Amino acid sequence: MELKRVLSYLLLCVTLLSANAKSTADMEWWREARFGMFIHWGLYSVAAGEWNGKQIDGIGEWIQNFGKISNKDYEKLAKDFTMASYNPESWVKMAKNAGAKYIVFTTKHHEGFCLYPSDYSDFDIEMTPYKGDPLKELIDACRKYDIKVGLYYSHRQDWREEDAAVMKNEYDGHYGKPKSAVKPNLDRYIQDKAIPQMKELLTGYGKIDVLWYDTPFDLTKEQSQMFVDIVRKLQPECVINGRVGYGLGDYGALGDNEMPFAGAAKDLEMVATMNHTWGYKKQDNDWKSARDILCSLIECASRGVNYMINIGPKADGTVPQPSVDIMNYIGKWMSKNSEAVYGTTSNPFNDNFPWGYVTRKGNSIYLHLLREPKNREIALKGMLSVVDNAYILSNGKEVSVSNGEVCKLSVPSGLDYEEIPVVKVECEWPARFNDECYMNENVISIPVASGKIIPGKDGALKIAEGCNTSDFNNKTGALKLGFIVEEPGEYIVRVHTNRHWRRSFAKGMRVTLKVDDNKAFENVELKQDFEYDNVRRNSYPESYSDLGTVTFDKCGLKSMTLSVDTVGTFSKFGFFGEDIQNESDNNIRFNKIELIKK
Ligand code: GLC
Repeated sequence: MELKRVLSYLLLCVTLLSANAKSTADMEWWREARFGMFIHWGLYSVAAGEWNGKQIDGIGEWIQNFGKISNKDYEKLAKDFTMASYNPESWVKMAKNAGAKYIVFTTKHHEGFCLYPSDYSDFDIEMTPYKGDPLKELIDACRKYDIKVGLYYSHRQDWREEDAAVMKNEYDGHYGKPKSAVKPNLDRYIQDKAIPQMKELLTGYGKIDVLWYDTPFDLTKEQSQMFVDIVRKLQPECVINGRVGYGLGDYGALGDNEMPFAGAAKDLEMVATMNHTWGYKKQDNDWKSARDILCSLIECASRGVNYMINIGPKADGTVPQPSVDIMNYIGKWMSKNSEAVYGTTSNPFNDNFPWGYVTRKGNSIYLHLLREPKNREIALKGMLSVVDNAYILSNGKEVSVSNGEVCKLSVPSGLDYEEIPVVKVECEWPARFNDECYMNENVISIPVASGKIIPGKDGALKIAEGCNTSDFNNKTGALKLGFIVEEPGEYIVRVHTNRHWRRSFAKGMRVTLKVDDNKAFENVELKQDFEYDNVRRNSYPESYSDLGTVTFDKCGLKSMTLSVDTVGTFSKFGFFGEDIQNESDNNIRFNKIELIKK
């Protein structure tokens, strides 16, 4: 038996390796789309964040793990997964009306339950009262409304299967035996379940447009490559997301609810929850505002990043009303302004307009006004081309333009900024810009992504895909940032940082900031002077620290150099409750530095 298994595994490897591993994905529609809808639906939707009458903390689709629920007990949920009100067309129409161009649906999440009838697992839809194939019905609805089809598949985690046991998550009794008796065999899991199911999904449901893998964890590069090759072989045009592992996907991998802080250097997608959970939780009613979610969509587009918002339907298939309301709200704005999102690229200026975000499409730029510009005036510093004309995109109302040394626009009075009006600016061909860090409304905002890395003795800090610093500590060098002073005077020096997964602000951080040949803040402690209460507060909470002030007597191009003297230590627990008390923060995530004219 074992020899047969080894031979068939080797045959599988050879077959897959013969597949054309080069990317053949059709990224064109994906870049044009900019906006997708994620759907998390599974047995966890039945549990809805509770077990034995007790609320279980954490994201809802992890309840079996957080609640330490054995497979024998967890599978009992299947009988209550009625899908009694399942109406996939209503989901797809909601996405379509909101302006989403693709849907990614959980076919098998970490729990191991398959939302379709699988020949390779009995833990599938046939254990539920539902008679049918919900995956096929959803895909048919997507095709009917011209929505691209995406499949989520957790390719490393499968809490149903001993062979996929991650061990650090499992516990005595999970598989009905002591943990010491569990002998995982990941290769066998991949060969006997994961890859065969990928074949089912990639050959049984017509054209698949996106394959969305998740949590690659300790997969080897060869194992991740197998999940790439099976897609390339069976669905060559299908786009593979970044979480397949080892950068083998067709685009990068941001964290959950991670918003990039500047224009992305590669294809990226930000995935976001509307509250704090992907899978439905009856107790999680902390919904983000519809406007904040719309602003995230716009902010992502201004960075050349796709935005995929999540809904977590209930076990019966109904969608929580707040989610429906949010999608309708987005749709109302998109119905008048989608031109400013679809097929756009990132803001060609430095990303620092205080009134909102900028997207670009060829010789046009779109200014998304989240609030009234000061004196209703917009100075397009960095605009090197003549502006032919400008108007409010949704109603054509003219915006006056003066093409002087700096191009200035005057927006009309009476705009409702709650509605986020968009100014379309049409430039002469070829539209040219520079992305210097100018001052706008008394603030010079300098993204770290615009900086030059100076390696340290033990290596070099990096700029992560999310456009914040990564691996920046007291051994990995310094960051040199350029900016333009247009008005002499005294400026507050404000350093912005963020942290991952609700970690505390690491105490005791000490940095050195040399500002031009002017002033240095030597080995000063970075204190948390302010924490933002925004949509990222529960995933990548942002703070700022004021170092003091610096005075510039002369205008012109300046620079500053930031380095870390002492890393800080955390003082709380991490997201999954891990104890990171007093753990060093060796990965200080700076996003930007602002100079604010006093
Ligand atoms: C994380 C979670 C998973 C969720 C995914 C959404 O990987 O583990 O439960 O589906 O994020 O991006």
